[in-house]
Amino acid sequence: MKRILVVGSGAREHALVWRLTRDGAEVHAAPGNAGIAEIAAVHAVAADDLDTQVALAQRLKVDLVIVGPEAPLVAGLVDRLSALGIAAFGPSKAAARLEGSKAFSKDFMVRHGIPTAGHHTFTDVDEALAFVRAARRPLVVKADGLAAGKGVVVAKDADEAADAIERFGRARELGDAGATLVVEETLVGPEVSYHVVSDGTRYVALAPAQDHKRIFDGDRGPNTGGMGAYSPPPMVDAEVERKIRERVIEPTLRGCAAEGFPFRGALFVGLMIVDGEPTVLEYNTRFGDPETECLMTRWGGSAIPLFEGAAKGDLSAVQTTWDAPASLCVVLASEGYPGAYPKGRRIEGLDRAAEVAGVVIFHAGTTRADGGFVTSGGRVLAVTATGVTLDEAADRAYAAADRIQFEGKQLRRDIGWQARRG
Ligand code: AMP
Ligand code: GLY
Repeated sequence: MKRILVVGSGAREHALVWRLTRDGAEVHAAPGNAGIAEIAAVHAVAADDLDTQVALAQRLKVDLVIVGPEAPLVAGLVDRLSALGIAAFGPSKAAARLEGSKAFSKDFMVRHGIPTAGHHTFTDVDEALAFVRAARRPLVVKADGLAAGKGVVVAKDADEAADAIERFGRARELGDAGATLVVEETLVGPEVSYHVVSDGTRYVALAPAQDHKRIFDGDRGPNTGGMGAYSPPPMVDAEVERKIRERVIEPTLRGCAAEGFPFRGALFVGLMIVDGEPTVLEYNTRFGDPETECLMTRWGGSAIPLFEGAAKGDLSAVQTTWDAPASLCVVLASEGYPGAYPKGRRIEGLDRAAEVAGVVIFHAGTTRADGGFVTSGGRVLAVTATGVTLDEAADRAYAAADRIQFEGKQLRRDIGWQARRG
């Protein structure tokens, strides 16, 4: 039996742990969460506490470590584990710069001819302000470093762009992440998430997915970590997928190898399909959340060879099969999210919700209390359902979501609207 340690604490990690457990692995998670603790051993080690994570992997004598979130990847956890001969799924620190620095990733795309919005990089706040004042068109302002989804402002006018520059660059609202700023053209079109798993040379393409980042129905309100996802999205037909692979994925992986940091792990490209042309919004060097909930419930066969093959540099024997034709995930969030939110609200109905056919409930922000669960995060649960069609998956996910109650529960009613009937 393989012993695998999953690093991280969200619904994404719950979905990975669920998959690996079903596939027959002995799974540990650090720090994990209350839902993960139901099916695996959890260890109270923060994801970004690299020393203690390495010591834990050594003590457990694991066959493989899978790193979920970006922070430990950017800090070099995989390098540390590899140096000790411990197989680790995820990119090296050098390769994780594709997510860790937006300026680096934009320059990389330009060097390798990968389609993306035109951009300028600034380290001087006044120069950035002068640029957006002179531009006379809508622009997007991005903090260079990791900012947990808070570092991007799609500005409607120059004032809004200038405000973002002041907040990120001068007031340093996001700390050093705003020391360098990227200002780029605004793209318009549907957004999709495309994941591949690479062993440094070869890659396995996973099914396309679509996330819903805004808090309210109709894609209104502030951005969140993701309020729901589904797979497959209809806007990625065979032709668009071919373009994504040939124009984005393959040159990216070739570029990483050519620049001396072959990419191993999950590469998740956020794309906008602009008049049928895939254009890169950002690279993520890890699995998406909530996309992973959809991908892991759709995956057919064992996923262990996928993770192990990538970590060990040989994916040649891995086949992708999709058991479920469709999957859809609805996130249940706390009142007030993505702003401040209360904690400790009692969650009712989880067992009845799990009885809906095809449904798996992944925990994101819950803790145990009095024999049940209470809320402890902004995103609380990721209610995921598979189906023969997306409509069936949606009907099941919403039937289960409606059986779960906690005070102030927020959810979007329109996950998958671009793919569903009427
Ligand atoms: P990022 O973290 O770079 O993916 O940006 C977060 C979100 O901001 C994306 O999911 C898009 O919805 C939006 N966004 C980023 N860059 C652009 C762009 N150039 N044009 C329009 N929207 C963008
Ligand atoms: N679902 C978007 C992300 O994980 O960044």
